[in-house]
Amino acid sequence: MLIHIVINSTFINVQLYNLYRFMDKLFENYCLKKHNTFGIDVNTKYYYEFSSTEEIVFFLRENPVSNIKKLILGAGSNIVFTKDFDGIVIRPRDRGVQIVEETKETILLKVGAGEVWDNFVNYCCKRNYGGAENLSLIPGMVGATPVQNIGAYGVEAKDIIEEVEAVNIDTQEIEKFNNEDCKFEYRNSIFKKELKGKYIVTYVTYKLSKTPILNINYGKVKDELKNCINIDVNSVREAIINIRNRKLPDPEKIGNAGSFFKNPIIDNNRTQELKIDFSDIVSYKVSETKDKIAAGWLIEQCGLKGKNFGKVGTYKDQALVIVNYGDATGNDIFNLAKDIQQTVYDKFGIIIDMEVNIV
Ligand code: EPU
Repeated sequence: MLIHIVINSTFINVQLYNLYRFMDKLFENYCLKKHNTFGIDVNTKYYYEFSSTEEIVFFLRENPVSNIKKLILGAGSNIVFTKDFDGIVIRPRDRGVQIVEETKETILLKVGAGEVWDNFVNYCCKRNYGGAENLSLIPGMVGATPVQNIGAYGVEAKDIIEEVEAVNIDTQEIEKFNNEDCKFEYRNSIFKKELKGKYIVTYVTYKLSKTPILNINYGKVKDELKNCINIDVNSVREAIINIRNRKLPDPEKIGNAGSFFKNPIIDNNRTQELKIDFSDIVSYKVSETKDKIAAGWLIEQCGLKGKNFGKVGTYKDQALVIVNYGDATGNDIFNLAKDIQQTVYDKFGIIIDMEVNIV
């Protein structure tokens, strides 16, 4: 159920005097190189940052660039810009964690969309709140977690999201979405489908457990923890940080956006057919009729793991990750991604969709 709250107009008027302050945060012809983890050197026509819901509501009502296209950007950890952006990039900077409700067993924490996701995971682990630890070290900001339904090591954001607060760009109303409203799926949500580009997430409320039940069934996590005696959320976080640091490139050192493709979901009859020719294919059952196939495995079998194609390539330890060796353009990356898709399709007859947003 959606709850609509209209911001009190008197309040908005009180904010009018802040016009100049808001406008200070509006930039023209702004470089996005530092705002995308691929490090692609492109400009946006306009760039705006906001630090509170009131600011963004006010900006949307008053802003002089209301008719141009808008792109909401968090840490830019899941995006490829193929050219300059001829619109306005809007970036949340509202941070901080508020306790909404606490019982003996659970705690509800409301977090600003501009908070760095891993800082929040760290906050939870330090206090022994369970639920977010498997999502340690995922790059990006809190606001992206419901949009993308980030996931890793057997846990997805949907498992802990209680509520999402977002501003409707057209009406400037603040709306609340409960977990069901978000229509979460594997790396997908209502915000990437029917509501794509229509809302700006301002807060996410997560429900954490004060008596954590750890999820350490994922093979690599179990292995990493095999010598650990007292396993708690902090040891799980540490194990996951170790695994990720070994397997995934640090975007500070080498441009990348994590998994570039989604793991495809196919009919299990098809998996059985593929097993005839490829007996070691990596698949996981997702329902009675469907299997998820490891796209990294498919790409590696095509001989494309750790391959260098000039300015771009695939990462040596994880074929699912495309890397920028230096000054690649978005098109260099996009073209390699299309070639990989085609090669995988030619060998296996499976389409691997891009997880990363192409702009
Ligand atoms: N594999 C290969 N070759 C590769 C990569 C993977 O054979 O180059 C095989 C592995 O041996 C393993 C299987 O594929 O048997 C799965 O590999 P892994 O555990 O590395 O996970 P993934 O399915 O490749 C997903 C997420 C990651 C997340 C990990 C861990 C997607 C698209 N990716 O990768 O998420 O960290 O699981 O849970 O679902 C991200 O979204 O940016 C991301 C890194």
